[in-house]
Amino acid sequence: MRTQIGIVGAGPAGLFLSHFLHRLGIESVILERHSRSEIESMIRAGVLEQWLVDLMNSLGLGARMMREGAFDTGITFQFQGRRHHIDFVELTGGKKVTVYAQHEVIKDLVATRLQDGGDIRFSVSDVALHDIAGDAPRITFRDLDGKPDELRCDFIAGCDGFHGPSRLAIPDTARTEHQIVYPWGWLGILAEAPRSSDELIYSRHEHGFALLSTRSPSVQRLYLQCDPHDDLAAWPDRRIWSEMQARFAFPGWTLAEGPIFQKGIVGMRSFVCDPMQHGRLFIAGDAAHIVPPTGAKGLNLAVADVLALSRALDAWYKKGSRDALDRYSETVLPRVWKYERFSWYMTTMLHRNDAESSFETRIHLADLDTVVGSRAAATALAEIYVGLPLD
Ligand code: FAD
Ligand code: PHB
Repeated sequence: MRTQIGIVGAGPAGLFLSHFLHRLGIESVILERHSRSEIESMIRAGVLEQWLVDLMNSLGLGARMMREGAFDTGITFQFQGRRHHIDFVELTGGKKVTVYAQHEVIKDLVATRLQDGGDIRFSVSDVALHDIAGDAPRITFRDLDGKPDELRCDFIAGCDGFHGPSRLAIPDTARTEHQIVYPWGWLGILAEAPRSSDELIYSRHEHGFALLSTRSPSVQRLYLQCDPHDDLAAWPDRRIWSEMQARFAFPGWTLAEGPIFQKGIVGMRSFVCDPMQHGRLFIAGDAAHIVPPTGAKGLNLAVADVLALSRALDAWYKKGSRDALDRYSETVLPRVWKYERFSWYMTTMLHRNDAESSFETRIHLADLDTVVGSRAAATALAEIYVGLPLD
């Protein structure tokens, strides 16, 4: 089998890339290890930046998002018994964020790719990258029935997330990895309940961080800071609600409870691989970098990477110029680092960290005080939360 761009992974990075390439008249094939129904039901991100919402609308991908998403005009920080509203619309000249679940974005992208005649191979296994340093890279894999197959292509896009094989195909000596692993995780739940607040609440509390988000008028998404090694069995529903109630408690306000129908624990890290390319392999999204979810940036950053990659590939096919491809890492890494800094700052400012000194804890509280007390500081936070400009 032969195509122009071989894409490993049908997450947001791989699917958006395939969609962008199709619009530019460039062919691709996506190899995905999960089934369609698995990728369409994996519970992950929720917050989409304004430019991404605008882009989805301009590409005809936004109809369901505009009907079913929640459009939030700001966020609330809660700490030391106080609540403070950060008004994005006022601070950024009218920008908002959209809360629309990642798996709904995936459903919309898969449906559109398949309607457009796109080639997505689900449930493949044993994916391996070959000859990435030469002019004829290949990907070997087993198809749905376990039969060995090979995809020959001009370039490979590694969009296979943090644990996929693409990043590891870059020789150790040709990449540097920068990383922090945080000593806590998030317990995330979905509950059938009405929305308790019309914007997200980020709460710093002595028991640990908590985040109130949403999915629809009748389904809410909430997170609690926990030990990343905790067993879910240690978190029966009544313990979860009692912690949520403690961490969001505020006079005159009630947190609505309801049946919990999904629970999971995720660890947290910050990670960047530099460069994000080797020969004819280009890596994008979580394959190249991880942000802790406190900044709500991972999906948005993945799409920004593949937009830049699609433009560089377009320059190769239309003008025969390799320049933009050679500069891919240089082009995207400055934005990656700004988002890494923001996600690290939100994470360290809002979580309880027993390993840090009382001095550092007070610095985080002073940071929160600065953000809610200074219009300039609040504007800087709002600008990045709604999404930095692309170019
Ligand atoms: P992935 O979504 O990981 O996709 C990679 C794909 O590659 C997967 O489908 C996988 O099955 C496939 N794959 C892996 N290995 C192979 C293989 N060997 N062969 C073939 N296929 C393979 N981001 C935001 O922007 N906003 C948020 O609000 C937000 N909240 C989050 C909350 C939580 C709890 C978590 C965990 C993450 C959150 N994120 C958020 C981050 C976001 O979900 C990720 O950054 C995003 O999924 C990255 O997309 P990706 O396409 O790079 O990788
Ligand atoms: C979510 O709704 O899943 C969500 C919202 C904000 C975050 C992280 C996740 O910072």
